[in-house]
Amino acid sequence: MVASEGVTGGAGAGWSDRFEQGLHPAIERFNASIGFDIELLQQDLQGSVAHARMLGRCGLISAAESAQLIEGLETVRQEAAAGQFRPGLEAEDVHFAVERRLIELLGPLGKKLHTGRSRNDQVGTDLRLWLRQRIDGLEGSLRRYQRALFEHADQHLHTLIPGYTHLQRAQPLSLAHHLLAYVEMAERDRLRLQDVRRRVNICPLGAAALAGTPLPIDRRQTAEELGFESIYANSLDAVSDRDFAVEFSAAAALVMAHLSRLSEEVIFWASEEFGFVRLTDRCATGSSLMPQKKNPDVPELVRGKCGRVFGHLQGLLTMIKGLPLAYNKDFQEDKEALFDTVRTTEDCLEAMAILLEEGISFRPDRLELAVASDFSNATDVADYLVAKGVPFREAYQLVGGLVKTCLQESILLRQLPLERWQELHPAFEADIFAAITPRQVVAARTSEGGTGFSQVQAQLDRWRPVLMLS
Ligand code: ARG
Repeated sequence: MVASEGVTGGAGAGWSDRFEQGLHPAIERFNASIGFDIELLQQDLQGSVAHARMLGRCGLISAAESAQLIEGLETVRQEAAAGQFRPGLEAEDVHFAVERRLIELLGPLGKKLHTGRSRNDQVGTDLRLWLRQRIDGLEGSLRRYQRALFEHADQHLHTLIPGYTHLQRAQPLSLAHHLLAYVEMAERDRLRLQDVRRRVNICPLGAAALAGTPLPIDRRQTAEELGFESIYANSLDAVSDRDFAVEFSAAAALVMAHLSRLSEEVIFWASEEFGFVRLTDRCATGSSLMPQKKNPDVPELVRGKCGRVFGHLQGLLTMIKGLPLAYNKDFQEDKEALFDTVRTTEDCLEAMAILLEEGISFRPDRLELAVASDFSNATDVADYLVAKGVPFREAYQLVGGLVKTCLQESILLRQLPLERWQELHPAFEADIFAAITPRQVVAARTSEGGTGFSQVQAQLDRWRPVLMLS
């Protein structure tokens, strides 16, 4: 086909008249992004409709032509919805695919769509529209996950769980306190995504290839129609910026890191050794060989999928780091990274929410047993002495010795008779026993944000309206 009478571009169709030969078939395949950027079809149509309308309003095409272009784009949308729009490799990418189809539908008029626009500003627009929408979706997914955590927290204010540092028993906690820590992390994730969204929501359209256009376009009109907050101030920056993709990936990586930390806890909580939770049949799997097994595949997969999301962040950073201004084809690599990051993060959030909603139940009996059979009340013995005027460091030393004695005798602190306490320090009185029960140990931590029941209750009261009404 002679390029000048053919459709706009794509290897199969030929480029401008300067090209005499078609692409090598392997290079055509290598170059094409249609296999994955078809994901941007709706956004490409949306962007093109806004562009066509603006061209009409600015007098670059007639009002009737503008209306016909918009109608043609609508036809493509309907064809796609009916599964009849299946561009092949020859289209190269989604942008050419739509334009080619438009030209087939409308004839020469279709060739006017690309007036004052380049695929460089077009792809940037599409990608931002796509990501903006997905960020909004992730916001909802984070809320669902937070709600699922909250529901457990709300039921377990008075359930105790060992608190760890270095994965060694440290001090007992309210289980609600432990779970609300994850709600807080997810909240930072949500706010981070909202912040990223502000920089996603800037319109590059009208930057054209790199330098703007001599045609009297109106960038603000298209930006407004597409719901962008503002437009890029510099056309070079507009077509060269992928910071928003990197920022989003970093925010998604943190979401995944947080999900993975909870996953790790669920995995060991579900083990025989801990036995803090039971997995229901809805979210656990069996072994093909060992009939007794019930495996926590969901949190394991979430933990495992961090790798690809972290990898995409690294990939994107590496992809942009050596690029001169302005557009470079390297940018085509941003899509699969971004698409997979979004899909994976969405899937993991959903899976974790379902796991919390119906896949897991806490075992207060086992948790109770755990907190009652360790030395995680040792700090409270020291604090007891401190309250009686003993300097902390001295109390700390004394209690260390006490723990050592108990370990040698295989008893717990509460099993030491009062005389033994008093031998160690005369300040000990009979109320020491009440002061070191796990429940009292937790209740006593009433410093702001601490695990004391009153403080955790305040956290629950703060979250309830936020999560239950949104
Ligand atoms: N498929 C391309 C991409 O994903 C679209 C932009 C192509 N622009 C260009 N000058 N070749 O980045």
